[in-house]
Amino acid sequence: MQPFTLEKLDLKSVKAFKASDGNGMTSNHKKTIAVGLSQVLADSYKMLLKIQNYHWNVVGGKFFMVHKMTEEQYNELFKAIDEIAERVRAIGYLTPATFAEFDKLSTIKDGDMQLGEDEMLADLVASHIAVAHTAKAVALKADEYHDLATADLLTKRIGVHEKSAWLLQSLVTEQPAAKAKSRAHKAA
Ligand SMILES: [Fe+2]
Repeated sequence: MQPFTLEKLDLKSVKAFKASDGNGMTSNHKKTIAVGLSQVLADSYKMLLKIQNYHWNVVGGKFFMVHKMTEEQYNELFKAIDEIAERVRAIGYLTPATFAEFDKLSTIKDGDMQLGEDEMLADLVASHIAVAHTAKAVALKADEYHDLATADLLTKRIGVHEKSAWLLQSLVTEQPAAKAKSRAHKAA
């Protein structure tokens, strides 16, 4: 491997860095990332409330496991929300912090306390995947703009949401399609 030398630096990048005010991003790039982070923040806050809704209102044979797993997830998410919000501030923008703004910025729908336990689980799985998708889109943009701190933060969030989706999915007894298939198999 060639040792790193100053001569190998791309001078165009060096100039762009100097033209920005510190972290190598132009003001347009910062705005794009701040808006993206705000969307991840809004998704995460809506998700926090949905997880708590089901933590409090779930009823059925899986109560204990769902209650316990959702508690772990909302505690983890609560800390992450603070980190995401503070990254928006570090980039130089104000952090949205009202339910009205979160509703506008997020695609996550409110939870429904009338759902059965498997339906609640399916809703949480789909919502975790949706948050991971938002985070991925912003992480890719951050990577493109060399905003490594944001890319790193959001890459971790993607991993957490995908793992949470898997853990919750594993509590679902059997998918309707799989059930029908297994019945058909027995009958043959
Ligand atoms: Fe609790």
